Amino acid sequence: MVEEEGWVRLRIILVGFGVVGQNLVKLLLSRADDIYLRYGMKPRLVATVDSKGVAVSQSGLDLQRLLEVKRLYGTVAAYHDDGQRGESADIDLIDRKKGGRCRVEEIIREMDAEVLVEATPTNLNDGEPGLSNITTAIKHGRNVVTVNKGPLALAMPSLLELAEYNGVMLRFSGTVGGGTPILEFAKHCLRGDRILSFKGILNGTTNYILSMMEDGLTFDEALNDARSKGYAEADPSLDIDGFDAAAKLVIMANWIMGMKVTMRDVRFKGIRDVRLEDILEAKKHGKVIKLIASCDESRRLRVEPMSIDKNEPLCVNGTLNAVTFTSEHSGELTVIGKGAGGMETASAILRDLIEVREAMGMGIGLNRS
Ligand code: HSE
Repeated sequence: MVEEEGWVRLRIILVGFGVVGQNLVKLLLSRADDIYLRYGMKPRLVATVDSKGVAVSQSGLDLQRLLEVKRLYGTVAAYHDDGQRGESADIDLIDRKKGGRCRVEEIIREMDAEVLVEATPTNLNDGEPGLSNITTAIKHGRNVVTVNKGPLALAMPSLLELAEYNGVMLRFSGTVGGGTPILEFAKHCLRGDRILSFKGILNGTTNYILSMMEDGLTFDEALNDARSKGYAEADPSLDIDGFDAAAKLVIMANWIMGMKVTMRDVRFKGIRDVRLEDILEAKKHGKVIKLIASCDESRRLRVEPMSIDKNEPLCVNGTLNAVTFTSEHSGELTVIGKGAGGMETASAILRDLIEVREAMGMGIGLNRS
């Protein structure tokens, strides 16, 4: 390792190497020069964990090889085959893995890194394994960038407190709106204003289903379509029954409105009971049915199908997301964009990594800004 790299380096542990994780690695590869020139930062992946194993190298994994190994063997564990071993400390960790004793927590604790990127699948029952990964990282002084909604939906107030207490950053831009900077818009761009309420379409899958039903597809046809586009959750009932939108609403309420809430504080209902007749009836009156997540002026949090005017800016179709913020001085402002997608969400991770690196350079923790 070259000594003068200290001020530019950002050592990353990536846990979760599915679509988003792999796209992040592609982004780090394709944007390496640009990231250095524009942000003075050289991200280095020191560990990658997937459901079957781990690849580690304190001096930095070869990203091209990592992607190739994953493509060929389905796991990053194969990275260390054919003599491509890391340094001695790395080998220790791998050997313990082979002995069945190495756990993800060990990697998070023992590798030298500034940031954990947590990209394991969302689990809204107990938040695991993301919740343990995030708390371990924070307790060991690592900043965290996560795209996993589960831990935040279930424990965001305490996670933010824990990060604050440990003097590290917790960022989660990609959990709401994919690559669309919904959280940043409200938090940073509207800084001088005061947001009184907001409402939005936060789930692309249900929006796609409702839009397609209006065009004559059945519920199941539209759902299968959304799944094939990679938008739906592994368990699509999380989309259909409103869990996903409720989780995103919780994240927005905590981060944007300064509330201290979890999933228990949201009254939510999905689109399972929306009938084709309801959609066609609304259409006759120039309206459409959308799954709307809202935080009203009394700070009540709700997710429910609602009939809205076709001409409202909020009325977007397909897999798009849209949020209208009502602010004290600027009135209504609507942000629209793609709400999911591997590369889109990976770009949100990169956005967070840049923010973390910038804050580190300034020597400040920014969990409130
Ligand atoms: N299942 C989610 C959606 C993916 O359809 O919006 C993005 O969080």
